Parts: sequence; structure tokens; C-alpha cells
Amino acid sequence: MKQLVLYHNCCPLMNCKARILFFPWLLCFFLLMISPSRSDTDTLAQGQELKDGDNLFSASGLFKLGFFKPGHANTSYLGIWYNANNEKAVWVANRDTPIFGNSGTLRVDDHGNLKLSYSQGDSIVLYSVQAASNTSAVLLDTGNFVLRELNPDGSIKQELWQSFDSPSDTLLPKMKLGINKKSGLSWSLTSWISDEVPALGSFTLGMDPNGRNQMAIWWRGNIYWNSGPWENSLVKMFDKFSDYRFSYISNENETYFTYAVSKDITIFPRLTLNEKGEMLVFLPDSTFPQVSCSTSAPTLRAGCVEQKLPKCRSPRDKFVSKMGLMSAYGFTFGKSDNLSLSDCRVLCLKNCSCVAYASTNDDGTGCEIWSKDSSFTEQNRKELRSIFIIDTKIKIWWIWLIIVCGGASTCPLVFSVCYVIWRKKKEEANRSEKMK
Ligand SMILES: *[C@@H]1O[C@H](CO)[C@@H](O)[C@H](O)[C@H]1NC(C)=O
Ligand SMILES: *[C@@H]1O[C@H](CO)[C@@H](O)[C@H](O)[C@H]1NC(C)=O
Ligand SMILES: *[C@@H]1O[C@H](CO)[C@@H](O)[C@H](O)[C@H]1NC(C)=O
Ligand SMILES: *[C@@H]1O[C@H](CO)[C@@H](O)[C@H](O)[C@H]1NC(C)=O
Ligand SMILES: *[C@@H]1O[C@H](CO)[C@@H](O)[C@H](O)[C@H]1NC(C)=O
Repeated sequence: MKQLVLYHNCCPLMNCKARILFFPWLLCFFLLMISPSRSDTDTLAQGQELKDGDNLFSASGLFKLGFFKPGHANTSYLGIWYNANNEKAVWVANRDTPIFGNSGTLRVDDHGNLKLSYSQGDSIVLYSVQAASNTSAVLLDTGNFVLRELNPDGSIKQELWQSFDSPSDTLLPKMKLGINKKSGLSWSLTSWISDEVPALGSFTLGMDPNGRNQMAIWWRGNIYWNSGPWENSLVKMFDKFSDYRFSYISNENETYFTYAVSKDITIFPRLTLNEKGEMLVFLPDSTFPQVSCSTSAPTLRAGCVEQKLPKCRSPRDKFVSKMGLMSAYGFTFGKSDNLSLSDCRVLCLKNCSCVAYASTNDDGTGCEIWSKDSSFTEQNRKELRSIFIIDTKIKIWWIWLIIVCGGASTCPLVFSVCYVIWRKKKEEANRSEKMK
């Protein structure tokens, strides 16, 4: 490792006269030969490697590829993101294989394979070439990372692999959501498991195979939201985004949704399926879910599919999030179940004795549920976690108010009648007590 640090500092010769005194020229030259320079470039040529801390930049500098560490854990992922807004990665290579520490290296090896290697395990092969060839990987200005086979004159012979064919949770302009009829490949988005962990989460957004021109969101394989046919619902839904031009394309080779943006757009366009199963479209002034089937809303929105629940539950059952402590340990699900907070909520709803749930890890993953025999104490301390407690009171209160009032206009009248009756009863009670 030390030698590589030497190499980085040594090569801009003007800056490191002091170091040159310590290390022989020959060593520097030798390192230059075996480890080619990685400055601001969009290409990883055959034999080159990209270490943690190095980046590729697309030609105009719009996108950046490199290793990143989401959340607080010392685990890194290879990703692509908008260079100017260091927000969430739009693509992640090793979602279910986090790399511990900074040992990750991306390489186009001598055979032309695109490989991600790290110190604690086997390499992750992103693309394996059948025969040795002259390949190189390039980050395009669309945000697509492409592995190409080159002709001896440097022209492109064929494209072997592209990151656009394995989307993460984000659809960029020109990406496709649908199916390739020839290869059977399907393009879909899968949410992160929590906002800090890119691992494959609970929700998938793709083309509904039962209704060709419809989009759908699935929760763990169960239908969760359905767009309805393109012509009726989706066109209307996307019409309000004047900067995004959505289209639906179907021909003999493929069927997909895609979008383009106007050239002068000032935002970083993307459509994301977040860890709660909400579809977000990023707009210049605001970003709010365009599709949200979360049950915190009083009624199911258009397209949301009501989930099958046991008789003890109502689809309107709500949970309120509070900071605090439970009086006892709950039932904890295994780590290998890879549960998100949304999964945990459903596990609680499906178990009639469950009254509260929470994630078990700081990163928002894992699941613990409690039954009625444990109680909750609210405490606002930073180190405590949020516990989601079932709240049926609100619902009953509302139902009674609606029944009694029968509409907002008659409310004051009903209240005053109720009050008069209540006063009379109280007076009578008082009188009868005095008589005794
Ligand atoms: C992360 O792990 C690496 C080992 O690969 C270690 O050198 C480094 O100190 C760790 N960083 C933190 C913040 O724990
Ligand atoms: C690969 O193609 C480039 C032209 O872009 C050429 O310079 C290089 O020598 C070729 N490498 C091999 C191993 O054929
Ligand atoms: C379908 O694929 C074939 C073979 O790759 C190609 O020649 C044809 O132009 C494609 N059709 C469309 C509509 O893209
Ligand atoms: C949970 O994730 C790990 C990788 O992080 C994977 O190996 C395992 O199969 C997953 N388990 C389930 C039940 O999906
Ligand atoms: C239901 O939840 C309780 C704890 O609240 C747990 O002990 C029990 O095993 C759960 N039942 C099922 C079927 O998961």
C-alpha cells in the first residue's frame, strides 16, 4: 500500500522534490509501468485498476464512478452518482456484497473481464468475457457504465455489458423499464433495504407482465401498486412533469418505458423507488412521492392494492413512531431474513398479538415485534430507537365523530344538544344524590 501512495505523490514531479530524495527514480518509473495513471478520465482500459479513492468522470463531468460508504458502517460499494450533487448513488454494483474498509478495486483484467476485488473474499465478476479480447470500460455522459470490445484501430467492435442493464433503485433518462423479448432480460428497479443500506430491499418497480403497458410495484413479490394502462393513467400521471417526457415503446424486440428531459433542465433528473416503496420524481423545486401506498394516508390512493390482512386487523390500522423503550425484549427475526422496516410493519400486522415493531440495527434493518404483555415508555434520548406502536384510538375517535356529527355543518348543533343533555343528567344526578 505504501508504495502506491508513493506513486501517487511522486508522479507530478514538480510537487514532490523532497520525496524524490528518499526514493530512487527507478522505483517510481517501475511503478509507473505496472500501474498506469488514474487522473480525471472516463475510461478504465484493459489492465488498469480503479482503487477506493479514485474516480472515473464522464466526459462532461456530469457523472462520477467510484467507491462510497453510505451510512455509518465501514463498508463500501462501487457506485455511480451525479458529480455535482453528492446525494445517493444512482447505481450500485455490489448491493448484496458490501466490501469491508477501503480494499475495493475495480479492474479490467488481462482477459477483458470486469471484476471487483477486495481483501476479504472472492472477486465479484460484473462481466466475464468468453475469449480474450481488447476490452475497456467507459463511463458515459448518460450515467451508463459500458464495457466495450475494441478493434485494433480503437473503434468499438461491440458492447459487452452496461450498467443500464442492471438498474439499482433509480431510473435515469434513457434507461429502460420493461423487457427485452429477444434476450428475456427484464429491466426493473429494486429499492434499497434502508436509506443507509443499498442491499436489495422489499420493493420492485417494473413492467406488469399481465398488462403489457402497465407499470407495477411489488412488495416481496405481491402486487402493491398498479399504474393502469399507459394511455389512461400513466400519461396523465406523468403529464404534470413538463421537464420529463415519458414514453412507452413496444416493438418486436423490446417493450419498455423510458423518459427524456429537456436540455436546459437545471436539476439532476431521476426517478427513484425508495425503501418505503414510494416512487419519487425529482423536480427543480420539490420532491414528493408520486406514488405512495404507505398506509399513513387515510385512504388508499389510486392504483394501490389493498394488502391481505388477518381478520384482527383493519387496513386503516396505523402505527405511530415514538422514541423510547419497551419493558421487555420482543420477538426478533433472524439477520439472514434481510428485513426492511416496511417488512417489519407487515410482519407485525400479520401477527394478531403484535402491538409494536422496530428495526434492530442502527442502519434501519432487522425486525423486532412485541405483544400486549410488554409496555412502552416514551423517552426522548438520542441513543434510543424509534418504536412503531399500533394506534387504534385515533380511528375509533374519528368514526364516532363522523357518526355523531354526520357532517361538519351540523357539528356545533349536535355538540350543544349533547352538552345540554349532559348538563341535565348531571344536575339530575346531583339532585338525587342531595335527596339521599
Ligand atoms: C475501515 O476499515 C479499514 C480496513 O480495511 C481500516 O483500515 C479503517 O481504519 C477503518 N475505518 C474506520 C473508520 O473504522
Ligand atoms: C487495444 O486497443 C487499443 C486501441 O484503442 C490499442 O492501442 C491497444 O494496443 C489494444 N490492446 C491490445 C491488448 O490489443
Ligand atoms: C430488432 O432487432 C433486430 C436484430 O437485432 C434489428 O435488426 C431490428 O432493427 C430491431 N428492430 C427494432 C424495431 O429496433
Ligand atoms: C440476505 O442477504 C445475504 C447477502 O447479504 C444473502 O446471501 C442471503 O441469501 C439473503 N437472505 C435472504 C433470505 O434473502
Ligand atoms: C407473534 O408475535 C409474538 C410476539 O409478539 C411471538 O412470540 C410469536 O411467535 C409470533 N407468532 C408468529 C406466528 O410469528
